[in-house]
This record gives sequence, structure tokens and C-alpha cells, in this order.
Amino acid sequence: MGGGYDTGAASENLCLEAVHQGLIAHQMGGFDVEAVRVAFNVPERYQPMAMIAVGYPGRAEQLEGSFYENEIAPRRRRPLGDTFFAGGFGRSWRMS
Ligand SMILES: Cc1cc2nc3c(=O)[nH]c(=O)nc-3n(C[C@H](O)[C@H](O)[C@H](O)COP(=O)(O)O)c2cc1C
Repeated sequence: MGGGYDTGAASENLCLEAVHQGLIAHQMGGFDVEAVRVAFNVPERYQPMAMIAVGYPGRAEQLEGSFYENEIAPRRRRPLGDTFFAGGFGRSWRMS
């Protein structure tokens, strides 16, 4: 439980610092844990929880098909009320 919270906070800080240094970070929660253990010789007492690729940003024109379309599309944000609750779980928080 605590490990997940720590990993999330550390990941976010890594992403922010990457952008600050002109890099881009791509978080991945879906990866092959056992493959990571083998590839990087991770001791059993450590649990790989996240994978983050860091690199220099490319140009949208280098992408094809849906990857290009997604890249140039306006970003959409989930409404805050879908994630933040007040007065009980599932009760949307609303700024009054
Ligand atoms: C906690 C977390 C886990 C994620 N896991 C994956 C993943 O397993 N695979 C993946 O392709 N993208 C994953 N993403 C999404 C990408 O990291 C990235 O946020 C998304 O592609 C949007 O960034 P972009 O506009 O630069 O593509 C995850 C994002 C977060 C925040």
C-alpha cells in the first residue's frame, strides 16, 4: 500500500523534472514484471512497480495513423468531479 503511494509520487516528480530538463517521460503501469526481473537482474526483495521511458521529444509528423491523430488532437481532461469526492465516495466534489 505505502509502496504504491511512494512509487506514484516519485514517478510524478520524475516526469516533472524530465520536462524541466527538456525531456519527455512516458509512464507504463502495464509491463512484464518477470521479464524486467530477468533483463535487469532485479533481486527478489524488490518489486518492479512501474516502467518509465525517458527521451527527447520527437515531432508529431514522425507518427503514423491513430498515433499522429491522437498527438495533434486537443487534450481532454476528465472532469475533476469524477475523481474528487466530498461527503461520501462517488459524490462529486463541486466548487461552489
Ligand atoms: C500511472 C500511469 C500508468 C500508465 N501506464 C501506461 C501503460 O502501461 N502503457 C501505455 O502505453 N501508457 C501508459 N500510461 C499513459 C502514458 O504514460 C501517457 O500518459 C499517455 O500516453 C499520454 O501521454 P502522451 O500524450 O505523451 O502520449 C500511463 C500513465 C500513467 C499516469
